[in-house]
Amino acid sequence: MCKKNYTLHPLKRLLRYAFPFRKKIFLICILLWTSSIMEISGPIIISYFIDCFFSEIQISSHIIVVLILTFISFQFLSAILRYHQMFLFSTISLSIVKTIRIEIMRTLLKQPLSWFDAQSTGKLISIVVNDTEVIKDLFTHFISSLLKNIALVGSMFIAILILNFKLGCILFFLFPILFYIMRLYQYYSIPIFRKLRTCVANINNFFNEVIQNMSIIQQFQQQKRFREKLYILGYEHFQVRMKNLKLEGFLLRPLLSLLFSLILCIILLFFGLNTSKIMGVGILYTFINYLGRLSEPLIELAAQQSILQQSIASGERIFYLLDCPIQRYGNDHRKILQGKVEVKNLTFSYHKNPILNQISFSIPEKSFLALVGKTGSGKTTLANLIMGHYPIQEGHILIDNRSIKTLSKYSMRNSIAMVQQEPCFMAKTIYDNIVLGRNISEKKVWSILSSLDLISFINSFPKGIFSKLDEYGNRLSMGQKQLLSFVRVLVSEPSILILDEATANIDADIEQKINYILYKIKNTTTLIVIAHRLSTILNADQILVLHHGKIIEKGTHQSLLRSKGKYYQMYYIQKYDKNFSYTY
Ligand SMILES: Nc1ncnc2c1ncn2[C@@H]1O[C@H](COP(=O)(O)OP(=O)(O)O)[C@@H](O)[C@H]1O
Ligand SMILES: [Mg+2]
Repeated sequence: MCKKNYTLHPLKRLLRYAFPFRKKIFLICILLWTSSIMEISGPIIISYFIDCFFSEIQISSHIIVVLILTFISFQFLSAILRYHQMFLFSTISLSIVKTIRIEIMRTLLKQPLSWFDAQSTGKLISIVVNDTEVIKDLFTHFISSLLKNIALVGSMFIAILILNFKLGCILFFLFPILFYIMRLYQYYSIPIFRKLRTCVANINNFFNEVIQNMSIIQQFQQQKRFREKLYILGYEHFQVRMKNLKLEGFLLRPLLSLLFSLILCIILLFFGLNTSKIMGVGILYTFINYLGRLSEPLIELAAQQSILQQSIASGERIFYLLDCPIQRYGNDHRKILQGKVEVKNLTFSYHKNPILNQISFSIPEKSFLALVGKTGSGKTTLANLIMGHYPIQEGHILIDNRSIKTLSKYSMRNSIAMVQQEPCFMAKTIYDNIVLGRNISEKKVWSILSSLDLISFINSFPKGIFSKLDEYGNRLSMGQKQLLSFVRVLVSEPSILILDEATANIDADIEQKINYILYKIKNTTTLIVIAHRLSTILNADQILVLHHGKIIEKGTHQSLLRSKGKYYQMYYIQKYDKNFSYTY
């Protein structure tokens, strides 16, 4: 729905979310007008008593009782109706925020990984949490109070017009002045609200950065520097907030009070002290009472301008996110059965920074390809392209003779899997982290664990496969993470398995286990292994050496050693770890 509306003003687009609730909103308006009429009937009833008192008219006790009962029941009913309209409005605004959050989540889940590279996590969280909260306030506070105050001011205006036409006219001419005061307030307050919003986003971002990098901050004793930075950000926020409060306190309230006092003075001067002859004292009382009631809704509305401004800014950010082009997949749903991979003249850049340059190679089905090369040579990028995580810019990748661009998400995700350099875990049990919500039975998990000889590894956790991990698997060693990551991937029996530096940072015992796993799956799965540790890839059918985004050597372990090129250098550096000049 949002994709079509990207040219609309954010506020209009936000209001469209209320369209499905139009019947309820109509009902709310009826409730509001009814309750406002009941509420403003109070001063009219009192004015009747005052008029009777001044005119020395005797009111029968019967009428007094009826009027008092009407007064009380009107106020009571008005309160009940207001409660119902508030309840209905809150339900609508919560539903709207729920819809927006679901849309944001859906869009985020469909973004290509390249999109996340350019985003700050703090800002994204701020959009999902804070901006949607602002939208909730737009509906719960601003629009609800706008409708409420229109009903209240409107019914007061109509009542005055009916009671005394002249006074009604004075009230009518008051509106442009009130409008001007509100515009004036808006003029000065908008820049403050923008600044306020930036301050909040900066604080969010800062906290996100600090929490994510806590280990570095503590290790390098940077606490003082970060504390000072937070103090500066907090002080900036405080100052902007104070400016806003001063503006509200000095501009809005005094101006409105001054205006209403002036009007009263004018009425008294104009009609002289003998007001009771021109209009009833009761009516004058009603007018003064309404004038007093008028300032609060106006101050409320003006003060809530901030919500309006903030929600326009939040709407812009939310719609920017919702309008981002999502990852597109093809329509070919057929499973990848063979696992044959062909890469032809593949060239790829990150933001115009060239990474891969005219790469071509092919991997026959169920064979073992190894990718080696120094850090930054483009190995992970190549793996991500074969995974379909980034769109192809130039060249082709064919899987089972089908272009990767034509493959559906279903066929790719079910057949091509990757054990990442830094696997992620959730704060759930090991079992949940392996299955990841897929339709995989516990029996299947155990059979994979048994075939990979990992049952004793799993049972070494306190509650076995049902041991709970903490967030991000923080307390797991790198080796444990890699092994669990293997199991997670292999339970779905992929046709193509990519290992990205899965053997880096692990001890000999885990390396042995991983080598055993590779040995077990070697002839049943196409393997693409990016290896830092060359001992893992000695049995590869083909080894590619990547250097500055180009393939500079290709062959088996033995043939590459014989050619005495870069691979030869790398191998002997690792073997003897010294006495070798290893220059790139
Ligand atoms: N998401 C990204 N955005 C921009 N540049 C990136 C991104 N990922 C990697 N790079 C850059 O691309 C180059 C290759 O990175 P990568 O494929 O991770 O290399 P390798 O896995 O061989 O170490 C590096 O210079 C790296 O800085
Ligand atoms: Mg890498």
